[in-house]
Amino acid sequence: MSAASRIDTEVGIIGAGPAGLLLSHLLDRASIDSVVVERRTRAEIEQTHRAGILEQGSVQLLVETGVSNRVLTDGREHHGIDLRFGGVSHRLDFGQLVDASSWLYPQTDVFRDLAAARDRDGGDVRYGVADAVVDDPTLDRPTIHTTTAEGEPQAIRCRTVVGADGAHSQTRQLIAGRAQYFRQYPFAWFGILCEAPPAAAELVYCRSDRGFALISQRTETLQRMYFQCDPAIDASTWSDDRIWSELQSRVAGEDDFRLPEGPIVQRTVLPFRSFVCEPMRHANLLLVGDAAHTVPPTGAKGLNLALADAALAADMLTRAHHGDRTALDGYSARAQDRVWRAQHFSYWMTTLLHDAPNEQEFDRRRQLAELRLLTRSAAGARLLAEGYTGWPHEPLTDGTPSGAAHARVRWPLSLSGR
Ligand code: PHB
Repeated sequence: MSAASRIDTEVGIIGAGPAGLLLSHLLDRASIDSVVVERRTRAEIEQTHRAGILEQGSVQLLVETGVSNRVLTDGREHHGIDLRFGGVSHRLDFGQLVDASSWLYPQTDVFRDLAAARDRDGGDVRYGVADAVVDDPTLDRPTIHTTTAEGEPQAIRCRTVVGADGAHSQTRQLIAGRAQYFRQYPFAWFGILCEAPPAAAELVYCRSDRGFALISQRTETLQRMYFQCDPAIDASTWSDDRIWSELQSRVAGEDDFRLPEGPIVQRTVLPFRSFVCEPMRHANLLLVGDAAHTVPPTGAKGLNLALADAALAADMLTRAHHGDRTALDGYSARAQDRVWRAQHFSYWMTTLLHDAPNEQEFDRRRQLAELRLLTRSAAGARLLAEGYTGWPHEPLTDGTPSGAAHARVRWPLSLSGR
């Protein structure tokens, strides 16, 4: 075997999902060198279907830091959602409630935009790289040992390593003394993509006696829908007819709401769990995104949290780069503050709308009362709308060296130039 080739960089990022790529992009804006290594090929990542809702702050981040304007031209701004229960839809108007909106823009498009922006700006992103192993994050210059797509050993020496390697993160194992918090749920989501016109202008979150259903969209001719199912089922054994009949019965109501049907072109069972790893930093290693936390998909917080982690990490790494060696000390606590709010929100949306297998009549009646409360009380509706559209990102002002001010990522950002 040939000797390992060596690369030196400031920040070595393991994982080229949205968190890893956004971090690399933001560091580049601050003139900080980074190398991203990713196990999967670019095509594999592009073909992974994930959630599709961006918070307003995530849209601002993509647009105003120069990733791409495509979310504004190809995404759809949603000014509310429908909460449907008892066979009737109740609209929550985000504009009226919290003067905010959310955007339908699938994660695959976010990935494409970020990957294209890294290409455009000469970013160093290496796909198909196997065996990324970090030697020791407590070293002054930790090294990521990898095998390149061509099968050659390679050592990437960094000042900071960032684990952006997703829910099955290996780098997470290096967070010494970490605590891990889990919540399992007794159900999963059956997700489909179908060729049909949209059933509604915005998203419909539906609670029914047969369980939860979510009616989302992709384009004028392709729709995304989900329904609560037993985690053990085999999606491939369900016929199109059976899937449509299950979905139709969950959304049925006195208003005769029906989903336009069409061929189902993709079906999967989505895992469902809540997970948090604390802390998100150990010495010269930071975790971002799913590597540190996963949320159930109700409320679509996962991608937004990953982008928020990346923005925060970029800001703190920028300050560290400009001489504030204590800058990274605050990373974990700041990130976790948002993470736990999102954990609570996702858990809340989940328990609000799903039917737990051992639920009793008391639980159902209490759940319906909570839904009525949220749709009738402006205070209740506002709490949900605020969480759904995303809490504001606090400006990072503490301890910023003035010399670094030009390079800082500014939060929150206003949507200008639209
Ligand atoms: C989606 O469109 O894939 C989607 C939307 C909202 C969610 C989850 C998934 O809460």
